[in-house]
Amino acid sequence: RLARARTAIERHARLVPDFPEPGVAFKDLTPVLAAADGLAAVTEALADVCAGADLIAGIDARGFLLGGAIAHRLGIGVVAVRKGGKLPPPVVGVDYDLEYGSARLEVPASGIEFAGRRVAVVDDVLATGGTLCASVELLMRMGASVRDVAVVMELEGFPGRTRVEAAGGGSLRVHN
Ligand code: PRP
Ligand code: MG
Repeated sequence: RLARARTAIERHARLVPDFPEPGVAFKDLTPVLAAADGLAAVTEALADVCAGADLIAGIDARGFLLGGAIAHRLGIGVVAVRKGGKLPPPVVGVDYDLEYGSARLEVPASGIEFAGRRVAVVDDVLATGGTLCASVELLMRMGASVRDVAVVMELEGFPGRTRVEAAGGGSLRVHN
């Protein structure tokens, strides 16, 4: 299934030269998810590694698309981990650093039982790991057990995987 997903990504991803900086080739995953076989292949591969979870957390914004599809396939629910200021109160949030400035991620503080749940976290891309570390910290603070983090693509040359696995405290694995 992983091989099928990789083939679909290679077939559909669009390479954008010199974005976001000169010399960097940006791999745009948007067309992968827009293609029926691309969405199916990626969803199936990521659902495999999320099996055992009883709730999927999809990270704002492209993690929403994947999270919903994966949760549906596994027969479980999905929660959106949103950028700051989008959710109605009460919320619980975490601030984290970006290359320039900072950002905030939030989940509902009531209405969803996180305590004791096994939550798998899903996003499109892992780079520095800042986004996923913040997400894992937030969910753990809510009492969830986070064992699996699934991404479509891991950028080379970043310490993202190591950072996220450390944030999960030893029993967390990053899959891509
Ligand atoms: C991108 C990407 C990941 C994150 C990865 O999101 O979708 O969520 O960056 O980078 P990191 O590992 O260095 O944190 P971005 O914050 O650009 O926003 P978006 O998902 O809303 O487009
Ligand atoms: Mg993102």
